[in-house]
Amino acid sequence: FRFTHLPHAAPTPAARRAELLADPGFGRVFTDHMAVVRYKEGQGWHNPTIEARAPISLDPAAAVLHYAQEIFEGMKAYRAADGAVVMFRPDANARRFRESAERMAMAPVPDALFLQAVRELVRTDRDWIPEGENASLYLRPFMIASEAFLGVKPSSEYLFIVIASPVGAYFSAGAVTVWVSEDYTRAAPGGTGAAKCGGNYAASLLAQREAKAHGCDQVLFLDAAEHRWIEEMGGMNIFFVMDDSTLVTPPLGTILPGITRDTILTLARDRGLTVREDAYSIDQCYQDAAAGRLKEVFACGTAAVVTPIGRLRGRRGEIVIGSGNGADPVTETLRTALIGIQRGKAPDPHGWVQRV
Ligand code: PLP
Ligand code: COI
Repeated sequence: FRFTHLPHAAPTPAARRAELLADPGFGRVFTDHMAVVRYKEGQGWHNPTIEARAPISLDPAAAVLHYAQEIFEGMKAYRAADGAVVMFRPDANARRFRESAERMAMAPVPDALFLQAVRELVRTDRDWIPEGENASLYLRPFMIASEAFLGVKPSSEYLFIVIASPVGAYFSAGAVTVWVSEDYTRAAPGGTGAAKCGGNYAASLLAQREAKAHGCDQVLFLDAAEHRWIEEMGGMNIFFVMDDSTLVTPPLGTILPGITRDTILTLARDRGLTVREDAYSIDQCYQDAAAGRLKEVFACGTAAVVTPIGRLRGRRGEIVIGSGNGADPVTETLRTALIGIQRGKAPDPHGWVQRV
């Protein structure tokens, strides 16, 4: 694929960019460009461009607006210690994007095209990568069904776009409090829980609002069948650390197969910790916390990186985990190990870091 670079009529002046990069928050500031690739049945993927980031025009009958045929990814580019621009396991995002497309009956983007689109955008907007310990360039590849047709069937046309957003930390410092949702579930067996599709997030918003109303940062979902087994949070996976330093995390199936989750499993095994991908019930969790067997809980994901969870709150009351304020040893060890590799400060024995 050969991307055509269209000139930008009015790129952001350097001084304004510096101002924006000083305190970007999360997902509010965007770079100057975007990558756009179109698909049409019979024509395949065509017209790859890097162009000025701008509103896109869609027919009001476009399938995405009615039947939510949409998927996305979340990944980050960093400025490494030696000044190089790097990405963390981008091939895993390409694969998951393809798998999400298959689940939503969308045209899969070949991994090579996905990676090239992301790379060309990062290269073009490299001056937008913020400096700082928690800062990075968050990349949002996504695909929408663009055929104008109201019959319910897979679209014959798609738009694959990548936008980029300089970001700071997703959560302000310290441990977060999580709300255990007993009324709403996220995904059922046979459903779309393992796909990164917009609909999953739309369905999570009411539960997330309930979490906020109870003073919590994130919602924790239980399984749809029994409302008993812990699954994941609105936008991140979850790990439990027991008093024998064993790590427990819910098994794949109805949850998003997090790339950070997979990385943490490997980093923990590398450090001689026992890891179990096992069903863990909310009842057991409350019992283990009361008995002092549950030592640490943390969230992980691209946006969240590794974030300690200090409290679980829900209908059955509140439990305080460990010190309640984060900074507990296993979470801290894994967080430091992950960040060290991602930012090129530590050796990368698994070959996860790729230069852009
Ligand atoms: N679970 C959900 C629902 C998410 O939205 C995310 C974030 O992308 C994750 C888990 C973590 O996935 P990853 O580590 O690949 O970012
Ligand atoms: C990500 O971590 O990339 C997500 O999609 C989660 C969202 C909370 C931003």
